Amino acid sequence: MNKKKIRPLVITIDGPAGAGKSTVARITAERLGLPYLDTGAIYRAVTWFLKGHAIAPEDGEMIGSALAVISISLSDGSVYVNERNVTDEIRTPDVDAAVSSYSALKPVRDALMDLQREQASRGLVADGRDMGTVVFPCADLKIFLTADAEERARRRYKERLARGEKAEYAEILSYVNERDLYDMNREIAPLRPANGCVILDSTRMTIEEVADVIVSLARELGETKEN
Ligand code: DC
Repeated sequence: MNKKKIRPLVITIDGPAGAGKSTVARITAERLGLPYLDTGAIYRAVTWFLKGHAIAPEDGEMIGSALAVISISLSDGSVYVNERNVTDEIRTPDVDAAVSSYSALKPVRDALMDLQREQASRGLVADGRDMGTVVFPCADLKIFLTADAEERARRRYKERLARGEKAEYAEILSYVNERDLYDMNREIAPLRPANGCVILDSTRMTIEEVADVIVSLARELGETKEN
């Protein structure tokens, strides 16, 4: 069924690692006919670049110079750094381990603000850690998607096995806990529910059920294109 779109909605989905944000955001965006913005991928791209140039998170001056020459673009689900497609390279365990430290830095967050906001001209579904609190505080619908750490680790573990990678559940659980703690306690743009957000606990929900809830909430807000 196609409903007429009155205005493009901005929907934010924040939450801890492994809560299912990116899958839910992708499905929701498709069902509502909105672009999907994966901001974790942007932070991963910067991390990939800085790590690749052996620039440490403590090296403020070098980070400033690097940010001045780094150009990130997003197209059809792919991420480019200075025109090189890094979509797969930003998902390695190396980038996983480093991304929290680089994304806690103010110059990094400031440099990425405009890039993220520019994507919203046609509306969007954006997932990340500070979408509803900092980047799109006036979003039409803000979701905080969470789940028990054990469940989130279990999902990551299954994803890794499905990709044919080696995985250790206990290791993933401790990594998930560590990353949550870091993302929630950093000084700038810490992970927390935004004012006026809807908190969804996906521990006992399927991805489809979560997407259904968000699509219904979006539909209540106005007429959107539902495919
Ligand atoms: O969603 P993800 O796992 O791909 O995110 C990777 C890291 O990027 C995460 O540890 C925190 C950071 N991040 C952030 O600080 N702000 C965002 N809006 C998105 C991600």
